[in-house]
Amino acid sequence: MSDRKPLIAGNWKMNLDHQQAIALVQKIAWTLKDVNHDYDKVEVSVFPPFTDLRSVQTLLDADKLQLVLGAQDISQHESGAYTGEIAGAFLKKLDVRYVLVGHSERRQYHRETDEVVQAKVSAAFKNNLIPVICVGETLEELEEQGAAAVPIRQLEQALSGHKDIGEFVVAYEPVWAIGTGKVATAEQAAEVAKKLRESIEKLVSAEAADASRILYGGSVKSANVAGFLASEEVDGVLVGGASLDVTEFTGICRFQKHVSL
Ligand code: PGA
Repeated sequence: MSDRKPLIAGNWKMNLDHQQAIALVQKIAWTLKDVNHDYDKVEVSVFPPFTDLRSVQTLLDADKLQLVLGAQDISQHESGAYTGEIAGAFLKKLDVRYVLVGHSERRQYHRETDEVVQAKVSAAFKNNLIPVICVGETLEELEEQGAAAVPIRQLEQALSGHKDIGEFVVAYEPVWAIGTGKVATAEQAAEVAKKLRESIEKLVSAEAADASRILYGGSVKSANVAGFLASEEVDGVLVGGASLDVTEFTGICRFQKHVSL
């Protein structure tokens, strides 16, 4: 078993206003408290929409909850005339620890290029935020280029050209598996994670390869999570749809109940 602490990350996407957010976080926290969840063993993080962050932060702080706050995006810029953008410094001020960068929905619907993703990773490092660098291939790319080719290329670009590389997380999310109910097999996920770790070793260092967590994402549910996390290579999951359902999400957080480690 590796020393990497598993991370269960709930990407809410554009769901739940700030009041609904508080209700969901409270329910997650109560449910995990009831089962004595050990947050030191399995880290649990939620990524609500920007407008919910302040409310969730206040709740986590007031009730001393151990859930960790993440944001769904970050501007590549520090400040200035960028209407609609959110600076890393603002996120840091709200005790945000993680920020998603390069999610396939941003790449697809907002035309985020690898250059933009690289600049956002840089903005995260500058603000002491941990980027969760999302990589993944479409079905076409998988068929044409084989497993791992596109994710590796995306990761290489995201990690290139930084003066200082801080802590980061990689999320392998095959585009064909996001929100579709189609999941990669545990073997596919483990194989790509292994190759991504090898490329971190080449791009950064052996230490970084050893320390960095690589998540799987795409139609993860409580019923299939154990398979992904049975592999040494996969250090957690990025959960979309199922993160909005208390029973599902807390079931995913308790994956160790189903895996013999
Ligand atoms: P999904 O989304 O779990 O609904 O497939 C995953 C993601 O996009 O992060």
